[in-house]
Amino acid sequence: MSVPISVGYPAVSDTAGVPRRRSEIPRLDPPSGRGEYGLPVRTVIPDHPLINHKLTALRDERTDSPTFRRLADELVTLLTYEATRGIRTEPVTVRTPVAEAPGIQLASPKPVVVPILRAGLGMLEGMVRLLPSAEVGFLGMVRNEETLQPTTYADRLPDDLSGRQVYVLDPMLATGGTLVAAIELLLARGAHDVTALCLLAAPEGLARLSEAFDGRDVDVTVVCAGLDERLNELGYIVPGLGDAGDRLYGVV
Ligand code: URA
Repeated sequence: MSVPISVGYPAVSDTAGVPRRRSEIPRLDPPSGRGEYGLPVRTVIPDHPLINHKLTALRDERTDSPTFRRLADELVTLLTYEATRGIRTEPVTVRTPVAEAPGIQLASPKPVVVPILRAGLGMLEGMVRLLPSAEVGFLGMVRNEETLQPTTYADRLPDDLSGRQVYVLDPMLATGGTLVAAIELLLARGAHDVTALCLLAAPEGLARLSEAFDGRDVDVTVVCAGLDERLNELGYIVPGLGDAGDRLYGVV
């Protein structure tokens, strides 16, 4: 699948019905219908100059780790604004110094934020800055670089996720193997409404998610800062930004 995209410029090809410009992509605010890019998994790519500016700086190979961490943090906060449009709320009335005012507050049970270790950790602060009351669970998944298959090495999640809105943090939606495995685990715990926040996605990863969740009674949304062209033979996103974990934390 070929989806050319210019770095920092909101243009994508119309391969398989994909709109040419991000601004032409209809935004689907949960819980409306599915099907951007012709895919059943909802995909939201906010079109904002600050997002594109920060993403371009993240891609730049000259950006050092401290700057990369700060930019990723800021970018996630911007993505969180869009990703939480469908967050559940309940009506509430408060008393101002002048009168009563109707408003809303986040509903219970509180949402759960799940960074996928290790690179997802670099997205956590940026998200909970806007959602301080969310609970945080951790999922350790590693991709075998030869088979590209994910395995779980850490699971610190509530046993019961029924009724919880879950936000998964994984910077690079590449083959989609890790994210599909993570979402399957969340669904097996009773989650029904899962939003994945990614810095970058590849068409192959979005297609993999669609294959996995199409036709199932689950609500899966992907919010990402950019949709890139393709994966290379090593499973890296092209043009991408390299290995997100290494760029965040250095090579260990
Ligand atoms: N993981 C990364 O960190 N980068 C990629 O390009 C793909 C997967």
